[in-house]
Formats: sequence, structure tokens, C-alpha cells
Amino acid sequence: MNILLTGGTGYIGSHTAVVLANAGHSVVLLDNFCNSNRSVSERINQITNQMIPCIEGDVRDTGLLVKTLTEFKIEAVIHFAGLKAVGESGQEPLKYYDNNVAGSISLLEAMKQVNVKTIVFSSSATVYGEPQYLPYDEEHPLNPINTYGRTKLQVEEILQDLAKSDPQWRITLLRYFNPVGAHESGLIGEDPNGIPNNLMPYIMQVASGKLPHLNIFGNDYDTRDGTGERDYIHVMDLAEGHLAALSFLQNHQGCETFNLGTGKPVSVIELLSAYEQACGQKLPTKLAPRREGDLPIYYAKPNKAKEYLGWMVTRGVADVSTSSYRWQQMRDGLAAS
Ligand code: NAD
Ligand code: WQD
Repeated sequence: MNILLTGGTGYIGSHTAVVLANAGHSVVLLDNFCNSNRSVSERINQITNQMIPCIEGDVRDTGLLVKTLTEFKIEAVIHFAGLKAVGESGQEPLKYYDNNVAGSISLLEAMKQVNVKTIVFSSSATVYGEPQYLPYDEEHPLNPINTYGRTKLQVEEILQDLAKSDPQWRITLLRYFNPVGAHESGLIGEDPNGIPNNLMPYIMQVASGKLPHLNIFGNDYDTRDGTGERDYIHVMDLAEGHLAALSFLQNHQGCETFNLGTGKPVSVIELLSAYEQACGQKLPTKLAPRREGDLPIYYAKPNKAKEYLGWMVTRGVADVSTSSYRWQQMRDGLAAS
């Protein structure tokens, strides 16, 4: 199949590109490089031993999308392109609604114009908000507690309405939990700009010596060891989930939602220990106050994805840590050269 990946040089897009290309699909990447760069596409080519087209462009440019969909005879789109910093989304809501919501409308408009009606959308567990019960299943009430989460929910609702308006649409909404880890080659991985907000990239920068210590945001939660618990999913498992979603859509019209998570909560201390094991050193930490807006614990019920997509995770925190460490060493080597 010919598949367009918006945001294809980003963290999850780049790993998905590798999985799809290795499965025999023809992949085209489109990215405006606001949170990535072109060298990622060269490294995807190196891993896959293919020359994957990479177009510089913005999803809000409907004309460019029409041209790209037509030129490459695209049959399905995976829509990763979006902004994802929770804190920034509260400070600059218009930027987030414009990029994430208006950007999605522009893409859907272009797809409709050229009659490409198969799409996989990158949604987030953030759409659930305060847990009414755990694990979250797909029926859990939706009540995002930040602007970023509301942009994701709005796009989900647009896609639901689109599917109702025209039965030809084939849509999956994939709600990712906490993606971590890197491709086993160490050639691609998460590469955030500036000081990371998220736990795993922060740990990696402490291990690199770029940051002095890890702040542990609270150790008095009602969890197994008092620190926050999350559902950390290896990015390669997540990438394989997209392959499974695309094959599901071959035989299903309408709009279907799936959690992509492991179903197993892991604490801050447990993830840190796994990384210390992989890098062979103890990392400095400091206890810090709870971070505003953090939930004590959340994790997925991934049963629906297993039943309908035949997908489940095969990697754990040890794989997450060894692959992340390999990526950290490769990136530190690049920075030093
Ligand atoms: P990322 O920032 O690494 O990748 C997103 C890519 O989209 C970047 O390469 C960026 O340059 C590009 N982009 C952004 N706006 C664009 C635009 N208007 N036009 C073209 N390209 C644009 O993020 P990621 O972690 O790979 O996330 C991919 C998607 O998954 C996002 O939609 C994100 O909201 C969603 N998601 C991520 C997580 C996570 O924790 N990483 C969790 C749940 C959902
Ligand atoms: C995980 C745990 C922190 C950093 C965010 C977004 C969510 C989704 C994934 C996109 C928490 C603790 C963290 C640190 C720490 N993204 N922590 N010290 O907050 O679960 O989810 O990323 O859709 O929308 O909100 O992930 O990695 O920031 O935090 O102690 O320096 O690590 O308190 O318990 P989070 P995270």
C-alpha cells in the first residue's frame, strides 16, 4: 500500500516508517521539521535500505497535500503531525488549536478532494482525564484536563462525524499511552528540543551529563513505591500497532478507537532503575514537589486492540532501556563529532 505519514520524521512517525517499509509498504514522509529534522529521513533510509521520499511541508497547506496524495498515489494516511507539549499548550492555545485541529481539517479536506478515505489518527490517553476507574478502557468517559488533550479530543470528534457523514471513510483513533524506547539500531529515537518535559528523555540527559540530576516529582502518591505510575509502551511495539491498524482498515469501514498500551503500570523509580541497569551507572536524583496536573497513576486496558487488531506488546522496560541507551550513545557521539 502507498502510505503518507504526516509528521513522519518525528519520534513515533520515524519508527512507524521503518516498520511499514520493512513490511513491504511504500512510505512517503511529510514534515515541516518544527520538531525534527531532515537527517532523520536519511537514517530511516539507512535502516530500511530504501530511498523513502521525504517532503518538507505543513499539513495546513491543503494544496501541497492534494498534490502529494495525487503524485504518490496515496491510499492511506497516518496522521502524526501535531504539537504535543502539555505546558506550552496552556500558554499558547491558539497555536495548538491551529496546528492540531486546523491542521487535521486541512488534511481531511485534501483527502476528501482526492478520494483517499483511510486514515489512522495519533490520539492520546490524555483524552480520558481524571480516571473514574482503571485501567482505562475505550469506553471510559472523555474529559481531558489540558489544552493539548482537548485538541486531540476535538480531532477525534471531527473524525467520528466524518465517518457518520460518509460510510466510505475508514478511520482508527489510536490512543497512545507513554511511548518510550528507540529502534534497536540506535539510529533513531526521541530527540526533544531543549530541556525535556518527559521522564525518559530527562533520565537520558542526566545519564549523558547534560542535566545534573533527575527531579522525582513526588514520592507520596498512593502507589506501590509512592512515585507516579504510567503505562510505558516501547515505540517499536507502538509502530507495529499502526501496521496492525492499517490491515484492520482493509476490511472495516467506519471509525474505531483503540488503546495502545501495555496494561502494566511502571513507577518512576522502576523506570529509572531499569535505565541504570542498562547504562551501568547510578544516576543522581532529587525529590521534588508533585508536578501540577500530574495524575498518580494511569494505564491501559489493551484487550480491544488484541481482539480486533491481533496486536499486543512484545517488549518490556529492559528493551526500552537498552534501546534508549544505545540511542543516547549514538546521539552523544554525533554531538561530539
Ligand atoms: P514529534 O514531535 O516527535 O513528531 C511530530 C512531528 O510532526 C514532528 O516531526 C514535527 O516536526 C511534525 N509537525 C508538527 N506540526 C506539523 C505541521 N503542522 N505540519 C507538518 N509537520 C508537523 O512527536 P511524537 O511523539 O512522534 O508524536 C506523534 C503524534 O503522536 C503527535 O500527534 C502526538 O500528539 C501523538 N502522541 C504522542 C505521545 C508521546 O508521548 N510521544 C503520546 C500520545 C500521542
Ligand atoms: C511520567 C511520570 C511524572 C519527569 C505526558 C503527557 C501525555 C502524553 C505522554 C502525549 C510522571 C514523572 C516526569 C521528570 C518525574 N503525551 N516525572 N520527573 O505526564 O504521564 O504524560 O507524556 O500525548 O499527554 O502529559 O509523562 O513522562 O512527563 O511523566 O518524576 O523529570 O514521570 O511525575 O509520574 P506523562 P511524563
